[in-house]
Amino acid sequence: MSQQLEQVKALIQLRDKARLGGGQKRIDSQHQKGKYTARERITMLLDEGSFEEFDMFVTHRCTNFGMEKETFLGDGVVTGYGTIDGRLVYVFAQDFTVFGGSLSESFAMKICKIMDQSMKMGAPVIGINDSGGARIQEGVNALAGYAEIFQRNILASGVVPQISAIFGPCAGGAVYSPALTDFNIMTKGTSYMFLTGPKVVKTVTGEDVTQEQLGGASVHATKSGVAHFAVDTEEEGIKVIRELLSYLPQNNLEEAPLVPTADPIDRLEDTLNEIIPDSPNKPYDMYEVIGSIVDEGKFLEIHKDYATNIIVGFARFNGISVGIVANQPKVLAGVLDNNASRKAARFVRFCDAFNIPLVTLVDVPGFLPGTQQEYGGIILHGAKLLYAYGEATVPKVTVTLRKSYGGAYCVMSSKHLRGDINYAWPTAEIAVMGPSGAIEVLYGKEVAAADDPAALSAQKEKDYRDAFANPYNAARFGYIDDVIEPRNTRFRIIRALQQLSTKKLVNPPKKHDNLPL
Ligand code: HXC
Repeated sequence: MSQQLEQVKALIQLRDKARLGGGQKRIDSQHQKGKYTARERITMLLDEGSFEEFDMFVTHRCTNFGMEKETFLGDGVVTGYGTIDGRLVYVFAQDFTVFGGSLSESFAMKICKIMDQSMKMGAPVIGINDSGGARIQEGVNALAGYAEIFQRNILASGVVPQISAIFGPCAGGAVYSPALTDFNIMTKGTSYMFLTGPKVVKTVTGEDVTQEQLGGASVHATKSGVAHFAVDTEEEGIKVIRELLSYLPQNNLEEAPLVPTADPIDRLEDTLNEIIPDSPNKPYDMYEVIGSIVDEGKFLEIHKDYATNIIVGFARFNGISVGIVANQPKVLAGVLDNNASRKAARFVRFCDAFNIPLVTLVDVPGFLPGTQQEYGGIILHGAKLLYAYGEATVPKVTVTLRKSYGGAYCVMSSKHLRGDINYAWPTAEIAVMGPSGAIEVLYGKEVAAADDPAALSAQKEKDYRDAFANPYNAARFGYIDDVIEPRNTRFRIIRALQQLSTKKLVNPPKKHDNLPL
């Protein structure tokens, strides 16, 4: 065998060794836990045969605690690039079989390298997390590595989409990298995220909690809002990432891909002409409205189980990717509270950063009153949503279906926050507050003193409804561009988006804003 052939053979052997990560035993143990390995995850995520790996031969440089005797090729993270539906993406997957996927200085530098590449090339970064956190033996070098990643997450925010999958542990300060990215996907039962684990919690607060109760996927998808998706399996998580990317541009200078559809643009949806119940206090399901107007009824919902009084997610109108924000009358009458405001604000800002038009469907009775909300900061959280809509320069199309009361009227992509096209259904009610509240404020004493308070109250309510509980008062001032037939909503939105496709609007120059936090 020639010397060169021997060298090639040695290379192949080294590669095979690197591909085994921490060894077959640890790979088996990973599988026994119901988890895939880092390489298996990358293979599932990317288009077949598209993965190009970097830094397979990197090892750690730690000599503490005899670490120099224990090295693994690749050092516990698999990094590189490939394609998803033919589009370039950068990817890293933490390898739990090597030191529990814990992060060393070299490990961090591998991640930083692909993040730097993603910024230069303008392509999304996907990180798959499965790690015991900072590699304890490395000391401050591991912490420095985390901070280097955080810095890149910050600079990449709003420039390239960043997506995190949490398919195992993600604890301590390590949680902040996913927190800085745009979307987090967690697997139920096998992943968790928390700043301090159950043992520390017990010591500090005396509280007894399991890992699942403290930071499992269900907790973060329903209570904290940290997880945008909670999925049953890793396969499902990978599918979500691929689908999500199909709605997004590669970076903030591009537009999302146009996806041709066979769904007619002028499809009439007769059911919408009768979807609003006669009683203003009766709910209907906003999902039915969304499903019937978007291309092929396809809607990728974000934060499905968190703050369910508002719905946000991606869909398409005649192939154009849009972000939908819609109040859900079926949950708390679609009221805006702290969590709903934060959820929608984050989504609106994402869409604006990545040139994705916003379609807002309004049926909102106002902001939720009460001490719980006020103490929780509804003034600040509500202001976030207000701010997000007001600063957004992407095309904004709004349809008011039914209620739009008080401050919530202003917030929900109103004309006054530079809404481009604002339509209303004939069932819309746009006023400072609902009829019963208004009558109490305006005529409370008069009604109480009347011979027949109920009759007077009913009469006053009717007068109020006739005057304000309709779209025509707002339309009279030009705040509503047109009152439309509900069954024609899809067509009108598509026309509006087409008209707005060349929209140019730039905010005043500034270092950065001072969003209420
Ligand atoms: C070095 C680690 C490690 C770590 C795990 N390992 N975590 N090595 N540094 N942080 C090693 C283990 O020694 C073990 O090695 C292998 O990885 C697998 O770990 P196991 O404990 O056997 O696995 P499992 O039972 O599944 O438990 C997983 C785990 C546990 C829950 C993640 O390992 C754990 O609690 N690790 C420590 C977590 C932690 O406190 N990290 C620091 C967080 S603070 P062998 O050789 O036996 O296979 C932090 C600060 C970041 O991260 C700050 C950023 C700003």
